[in-house]
Amino acid sequence: MILPILSYPDKRLREPGKEVERFDAELHRLIDDMAETMYAAPGVGLAAPQVGVSQRLFIVDVATDEDEPSDLRVFINPQIISTEGETTFNEGCLSFPGIREDIDRAARVKVRALDKNGTPFELEADGLLAIAIQHENDHLDGKLMIDHLSVLRRRLVHRAMTKRAAVDAAQ
Ligand code: NI
Repeated sequence: MILPILSYPDKRLREPGKEVERFDAELHRLIDDMAETMYAAPGVGLAAPQVGVSQRLFIVDVATDEDEPSDLRVFINPQIISTEGETTFNEGCLSFPGIREDIDRAARVKVRALDKNGTPFELEADGLLAIAIQHENDHLDGKLMIDHLSVLRRRLVHRAMTKRAAVDAAQ
């Protein structure tokens, strides 16, 4: 089932997610729905708070070329345990439709998380995967791409998004 994605400035995007405690059929259904929603959008990542579920869970799939096999990765209760280097990437976010901004991130991350069955794993990532992990992990703390921008860019993006929300509400 495709879930509605919350758009900035929806306040629910600012709520820190709670730890996932139950690895049951309901969780697996949520993961399936989030994957369907992300692929339909399309996007390379989606965090549970973006679909109104205040839990520490996100998915990413950075295999964006049509001929690449899908590479869905699920991160539950994740922790970024180390970072290295710096990189800048022109990022988008499904909660900021139409917006793309250059954002500075660490170039490499090591993350510890649980998979959909509650089994712990560690992963070292670089490139787009490292960027997506940091972007999605921010969502679990109620942090958004706009928070990484300069005061001026933040104001411009805020204005564009609130104008858009007003137009949507009027329709
Ligand atoms: Ni996002």
